[in-house]
Amino acid sequence: MAARLSREVARDILRRKLMFGFANGLRHSTTAAGGGRPLIPHFSKRGRLFLAGGTIGLAIAGAAYVSTVDGATRTGWLFSATTYLNPLFALLDAEFAHRLAVSAAARGWVPKEDRPDPPLLGLEVWGRKFSNPIGLAAGFDKNAEAVEGLLGLGFGFVEVGSVTPVPQEGNPKPRIFRMREEGAIINRCGFNSEGIVTVAKRLGAQHGKRKLDETSSTHASSDAERQGGKAGPGILGVNLGKNKTSEDAAGDYVQGVHTLSQYADYLVINISSPNTPGLRKLQGRNQLKDLIKRVRAARDEMQWGEEGPPPLLVKIAPDLSKQDLEDIAAVTLALHVDGLIISNTTISRPDPVSKNPLAQEQGGLSGKPLFDLSNNILKEMYILTRGKIPLIGCGGVSSGEDAYKKIRSGATLVQLYTAFAYGGPALIPQIKMELAKCLERDGIKSIHEAVGIDCR
Ligand SMILES: Cc1cc2nc3c(=O)[nH]c(=O)nc-3n(C[C@H](O)[C@H](O)[C@H](O)COP(=O)(O)O)c2cc1C
Repeated sequence: MAARLSREVARDILRRKLMFGFANGLRHSTTAAGGGRPLIPHFSKRGRLFLAGGTIGLAIAGAAYVSTVDGATRTGWLFSATTYLNPLFALLDAEFAHRLAVSAAARGWVPKEDRPDPPLLGLEVWGRKFSNPIGLAAGFDKNAEAVEGLLGLGFGFVEVGSVTPVPQEGNPKPRIFRMREEGAIINRCGFNSEGIVTVAKRLGAQHGKRKLDETSSTHASSDAERQGGKAGPGILGVNLGKNKTSEDAAGDYVQGVHTLSQYADYLVINISSPNTPGLRKLQGRNQLKDLIKRVRAARDEMQWGEEGPPPLLVKIAPDLSKQDLEDIAAVTLALHVDGLIISNTTISRPDPVSKNPLAQEQGGLSGKPLFDLSNNILKEMYILTRGKIPLIGCGGVSSGEDAYKKIRSGATLVQLYTAFAYGGPALIPQIKMELAKCLERDGIKSIHEAVGIDCR
């Protein structure tokens, strides 16, 4: 019976295709412009019944199938499905696409990772538990609009900012340039920021909830926890910047500390953006020493509970000389800085980017072409600091193998931005899975065990 019906429908379609052309037959209009000719195939009653029944049957079968698969598979599908949006985002202006992505994450219109991280990826740094070492670098959520959504994607930690004391527009647009083929971006945003007060309000509103989630997940005996996997809602870093016209850089960072440190699991002094005049000079030995002393004093003067103050990190550039690196290492060790982020974007234009006409654009280069440069600095810094302080490896990470290389080069934690901007949410579970496989392949039992292996 069904076979006869389907033959009838097929004959019906064929007849119409021959008569009117198939393309016309599928148009969503009942008449052609001026011709009065029916454009939607007019099936016999039996044919219509068969089509409707078939569609409903398929829908029911699909829903029934989806309900039989477990939650983890469904989550996997959701993450994979986001890759279909990537070509659409690619068509949009870079900054508009970025705005859209942040808004979507802020509204929770992104998949939520509910699969536990491989236990192998869990680690403790600065007394804080990370369920995995893969973090979102600063600059994506500059104004802390989407912390929950971004952490929900499965990042082990998310860094917001850079936040400036007073709101500022940043440089004129366009200021973000995509070089898709090279997996790179040049940006000269210049710290566009809504300022510390607005960001503090946003973080304040989420903070209680975040901490509550953390506590409950610490005590919950969920499957995830038994497996040693997902450890709560993730870690939040706050990255501090300075205003373009401010004369007192240290004063700006101190304001940031006073207003935002209570919400941060760690704080970052960003002195390495190439888009704020004079900022990178703060990496010089004496200036860095004075800056760290003042900022740390501001943090320590505040009242802190049992957990103590958030660790203080410094984010450095990849364009530093051997002498600069030695100076920074010496100051870092002498002043017991809690960590370094290595690195920010580069003002250089390594191959293959140098051949792209967009390479002429002023600003900092990120993404794949930055990998080797930032990794070399990371290795040098790991050796100079004798593996004594945690380093966050950042620059050009786009796979689990890249993250693994960063860790082997001395990074305890890893961050990415550009690859996420291109690859979207699906990249996060992929990187974590690949990283776990790398560790297993080499018989390494924990992230800590792998840190700095290539520098020994
Ligand atoms: C558009 C854009 C904006 C950025 N804004 C900031 C920022 O405000 N503060 C900061 O410390 N780093 C910022 N960064 C640098 C990133 O945090 C990261 O250090 C750099 O992009 C290298 O990582 P990646 O190669 O994975 O992108 C920005 C990067 C991009 C692409």
